[in-house]
Amino acid sequence: MSCLSYRDAQLCVEDVAVADLAARFGTPCYVYSRARIEASWRAIDAAFGAQPHRVCYAVKANSNLAVLNVLARLGSGFDIVSVGELERVLAAGGDAANVVFSGVGKRSDEMRRALEAGIRCFNVESVAELERLNQVAGELGRKAPIALRVNPDVDAGTHPYIATGMKENKFGIAHEQALDVYAQAATMAHIEIVGIACHIGSQITRTEPFHDAAARVLALVAALRERGIELHHIDCGGGLGVCYEDETPPPAADWIAALRAGLGDSGHELIVEPGRSIAATAGILVTRVEYLKPTAAKHFAVVDAAMNDLMRPALYGAWQRILPVQENSTAPAALYDVVGPVCESGDWLGKDRELAIRAGDLLAIGEAGAYGFGMSSNYNTRPRPCEVMVDGAHCQLVRERETVTELFAGERVLGG
Ligand code: LLP
Repeated sequence: MSCLSYRDAQLCVEDVAVADLAARFGTPCYVYSRARIEASWRAIDAAFGAQPHRVCYAVKANSNLAVLNVLARLGSGFDIVSVGELERVLAAGGDAANVVFSGVGKRSDEMRRALEAGIRCFNVESVAELERLNQVAGELGRKAPIALRVNPDVDAGTHPYIATGMKENKFGIAHEQALDVYAQAATMAHIEIVGIACHIGSQITRTEPFHDAAARVLALVAALRERGIELHHIDCGGGLGVCYEDETPPPAADWIAALRAGLGDSGHELIVEPGRSIAATAGILVTRVEYLKPTAAKHFAVVDAAMNDLMRPALYGAWQRILPVQENSTAPAALYDVVGPVCESGDWLGKDRELAIRAGDLLAIGEAGAYGFGMSSNYNTRPRPCEVMVDGAHCQLVRERETVTELFAGERVLGG
């Protein structure tokens, strides 16, 4: 099921015409489909059947409060990587008891806040972090629930910037050291071992790496049991890919089946941390063509969205669909590089795209619901776009467009 369709040649998100949203809220503008978010979350949740499990949405993929609230209402847990994400989850109605905290650089104040809020688990990524957490929990007179994030040394076959489970990556504790670190954790007065975690990368389009990583984790679980360390849960991370162009990622049910096959009948509660597979296909970025600029070498379509609004093409060379908002244009078709106003040649959203457009037309960048707004910046002093949630025939502004004065409100010229 897609949230996008053309009705009378007009692009719609659910039952709302994108052109109407652009007229009402301006461009650039992110638009999300509530139904699509819910359907993707439910497909993952349902794939577990009767198996005890918890789907912990990776907040970094799209941390808008309305998105988090839609998921909290479904009973989702959350995977966070900062205290800021924790505050967002709590503000959106999420339950701290279903929050897992990942990341290699947790500060003491972040640990303190997460302990006070009563999160479900810290996914610990180094011995130094474990020691600090033991100390911080001791100061609060508490025990910190932990899983060690192990690095299973599995090649996820994805872009090097988003592969995280190989030994040359900064993430996790090496598979070979995990047993020793668990033994160390077991002696710490303010640490309670509750699980094990791994996450091998993102935009993964085959099931084998998931299966292999799960099998490696299972071997550790068995070795820990032999040493008298029992775990309650196994967290297999996120990473399921989506189709941007012609990729054929497995359906959510096959992803979960691969994890369960790798883990055998371990009897543990399973946690997953999907981000992209819930949010990406639920969002578009709507932009307006400012100028058409034919040059000797290329046709450029200069649009009002840029790399600061959607960074994936510039950062990873990522390909995302560029769709006309009005399908039956009489404009002549040509191959365009769709570029933004930012002063970098890397500021493009798509290259060599066949489009029939005129200045003033609207375009939609597809699959922009994950790692879109969340990675946006104010580069070139550009206010970040507004965000709108569509629900059937209704829409709601869920984040106002920034204003220029807001951008430097916290700055000061020198005194004296
Ligand atoms: N858990 C952990 C510990 C993670 O580091 C990540 C993503 C996830 C879960 C969620 O992974 P997902 O299901 O979304 O693949 N900015 C990049 C993606 C970076 C992913 C970072 N970690 C992009 O735009 O492609």
